[in-house]
Amino acid sequence: MIENGFYGEFGGYYVSELLIPCLTELEKAFVEIKDDPSFHQQLKHLLNNWAGRPTPLYRSAWLSEELGCEAYLKREDLLHGGAHKTNNTAGQGLLAQRMGKKRIIAETGAGQHGVATAMIGALLGLDTTIYMGAKDVARQAPNVARMRLFGAKIISVESGGASLKGAINDALRAWTERVHDTFYVFGTAAGPHPYPAIVKTFQKIIGEEIAEQLGNIGARPKAIVASVGGGSNAIGAFAPFIQDESVMLLGAEPGGDGVETGRHGAALSAGRPGSLHGAISYVLQDKDGQIGDTHSVSAGLDYPGVGPEHSHLHACGRAEYAPITDAEALESFVQLCRYDGILPALESAHAVALARKCKSRFGKGDHIVINLSGRGDKDMDHAMNTLQEKGISL
Ligand SMILES: Cc1ncc(COP(=O)(O)O)c(C=O)c1O
Repeated sequence: MIENGFYGEFGGYYVSELLIPCLTELEKAFVEIKDDPSFHQQLKHLLNNWAGRPTPLYRSAWLSEELGCEAYLKREDLLHGGAHKTNNTAGQGLLAQRMGKKRIIAETGAGQHGVATAMIGALLGLDTTIYMGAKDVARQAPNVARMRLFGAKIISVESGGASLKGAINDALRAWTERVHDTFYVFGTAAGPHPYPAIVKTFQKIIGEEIAEQLGNIGARPKAIVASVGGGSNAIGAFAPFIQDESVMLLGAEPGGDGVETGRHGAALSAGRPGSLHGAISYVLQDKDGQIGDTHSVSAGLDYPGVGPEHSHLHACGRAEYAPITDAEALESFVQLCRYDGILPALESAHAVALARKCKSRFGKGDHIVINLSGRGDKDMDHAMNTLQEKGISL
C-alpha cells in the first residue's frame, strides 16, 4: 500500500516490521479522506467553530518600520489551545474517528501537541494517552495539568534522555501493541511515511489563509518566515508557495548557544543526512551516527532531526534555513511583548528574529509574513529566569 513518501532522497519508512501494518492501515485511511469533500467539510466546521479559524493576519507597525517593508504576523497564537498544533490534531482526531479507533496516543515535548491531542480526545470522546519525557513532565507543569483536565493519561518516559526522543520511541512501541483500537496522533511533519504528508495536509491551511488574506489587500508575499522544530508550522505556511520561486521561504532553526559551541538543535544548518524515527532526513549526529544531544531555550524546537520535506527543500536550495541563538530569540520575544503587546511562544520568537536578521533582503513595498506559531504563556517562567541569568533587565 505504501508507495511513495520520498521528498528527493529524504523520507521513507524505515521502521520495525511490527509497525508496517499500522502505517499501511493509516495510509489507506488517509488516501480515502484526502480528497473527500465530506471529511474536509467536517474538519472546516470544527476548525472554524471550535478552534477559531481563520486566524488574523496582523500588520506589525514597529516590525514594518524596522524591516523597511510591510511586515505581517500570522496569528496562530490565537488558535484554540494556543498554537498551530490544533490544526493537525483536529484532522488526525477526525481521521481516527473515521477509522473506528476508540483510543488515541501521542508524544509531546513542550506539551503543546499533547494539549491539542487531549483537547480533541475530549471533544470526540476518545480515550487519550500522552507520552512525555520525565524531564519535560517536570518543566512543563501547566501543560501537564491542562492535559489531565481534558481527561488524558500521562505516561512519563525515562528512556531516550527523558525527553521528546524517548517519548516518540515509547509511543511508537505502544502503538504496535494495540493497533486494533489505537490511532497514533503524530505531532510534526517528520517521522515515517505517511505522517509528513498527513501533517502537511492538515497544516497547509496556514499558508492558504495567508495567500487569501494578502490577496484581499491586493498583495503577494515576498517572504514567508517560520520556526522549524520537526517542521509542521513551517511546511504549513510554506505549502502554497513552494512552486512559486518568487517567494522566499525562510526557516529559523534553534541555534541555542551558537552552532559553533555544539549546544544547539540546528539539524539542517549543522547536521547531515541520517535516519531518525523512521525516516531519512538531516539529523544531528556524531561521526559514528550516534544521535547528538540538543539544546534550545525553546522546548518545542529541541529535536535532533527535522522533517524530510524540509531536508529536501534545504538540499535543493528552494528554502533557506538559518540558526537563531537563544539570546536572539529572547530579544525578539521581549520586543514583541513591548511593541505589539503580544506574548509569543519562544519557538515563534525565533522566526521573528530571523526576519529581523534578513532585513537587508526586503525592500519598501514588499510584504513579508512571519508565522507566529503559538503564544508564550507556557514559556513565561522559563523566559524570565533565562533573561535574569543572562543579565538582561526588563
Ligand atoms: C508554538 C510552537 N511553535 C513551533 C513548534 C515547533 O514544531 P513544528 O516545527 O512542528 O512546528 C512547537 C512545538 O512544540 C510549538 O509549540
